[in-house]
Amino acid sequence: MSGSATDRRLFRKRTVRDVDPGGKRVLVRVDFNVPLDRDGERVSVADDGRIRAALPTIEHLRDREARLVLVSHLGRPKDRERELSMAPVSARLGELIGAEVRQAPAVVGPDVEQAAAALAPGDVLVLENSRFEPGETKNDPQLSDALSRLADLYVDDAFGAVHRVHATTVGVAERLPAVAGFLLEREVTMLSGLLEDPGHPFVVVLGGAKVSDKIGVIERFLEIADAILIGGAMCFSFFRAQGLPTGDSLVEEEGVEPARRALERAQRSSCELELPVDLVVADRVAADAEWRQLDGVEVPDGWMGLDIGPRTARAYAERISQAGTVFWNGPMGVFELAPFQEGTRGVAAAVAAVDGLSVVGGGDSAAAVRQLGLDEAAYGHISTGGGASLEYLEGRELPGLAVLAD
Ligand code: 3PG
Repeated sequence: MSGSATDRRLFRKRTVRDVDPGGKRVLVRVDFNVPLDRDGERVSVADDGRIRAALPTIEHLRDREARLVLVSHLGRPKDRERELSMAPVSARLGELIGAEVRQAPAVVGPDVEQAAAALAPGDVLVLENSRFEPGETKNDPQLSDALSRLADLYVDDAFGAVHRVHATTVGVAERLPAVAGFLLEREVTMLSGLLEDPGHPFVVVLGGAKVSDKIGVIERFLEIADAILIGGAMCFSFFRAQGLPTGDSLVEEEGVEPARRALERAQRSSCELELPVDLVVADRVAADAEWRQLDGVEVPDGWMGLDIGPRTARAYAERISQAGTVFWNGPMGVFELAPFQEGTRGVAAAVAAVDGLSVVGGGDSAAAVRQLGLDEAAYGHISTGGGASLEYLEGRELPGLAVLAD
């Protein structure tokens, strides 16, 4: 079952509720950095979760007759690659809101200013991929000035990008009245609920490939959680730190030393740091690979661990089922391939069944929930932020949030 209701008192920034956007041009920073499907020339949105998550803010503003200018990055373009145009994303947004969505030819410039000026109340214009402008990631003042000329009000609803100091997240917010959208408010409120008042036992499940991405949250959660359950390829950095053979498994070498330190800290902590006790191994990463269950974790040469094993999955599910609060970030294995998805499925199903607050963080875990056909509504909150949610939980300041009006 899902967790507690959103407690807005935890959110200390002004939001779209606090402003009257009627008739105004509103620049809304969204995180429409979504996976795409390519079929020859045809490009479409493979997972529209992030677009749907921004709809409450978009609908709220349209209902109040705002003229909407939406801006997002998409991928990490190097040279305005056509395949990273926002056009397919705009098309999907149009389907979701059942209205015409205009696609601007660029991020800024005279044509874009004209298109923004021509918007009628309720109209929606989507700017081109913000990273087509080299000034975006440098938080360039000129780009921020040009963006601010497109609107009277700035709304940040891009939780997934709020840890970036970019022109569309910080620069323009310094130049316009700037408030948060509903998604940003909900994300911060749900995640701060984990830190400020978690129900116990507080169980944290972390997977994915890299320890280095997660070491900050591991250290933070060693102080406040009751158990941290590790899965995904990152467990091999821990096994390497323990001197165990990892065969041909993916091992993040830079993660080995941080993993060793985390194991040491866990010894002094009341929080248990649990590693898999068995694995699913294969001869390569492929749906038709030769694979088998390994009763243990010492991976022989010629084999690589691609999922946690069934004993681990059962033990983790049991731990999760007793949780008062659970936070899950990162798949337990290569869930995209059928032989290696049972660990992630087991964890995802157990998290969905928790009575207390359940929060799923990170694009990969959210994608796993959808790909495995699980009911998104069964989770208290599925975060749209990957790096942003981890940085928030580590206790770091989010610049795109800090800049908004209190
Ligand atoms: C994400 O996918 O986590 C966000 O959209 C941020 O993307 P970035 O890591 O390329 O800044």
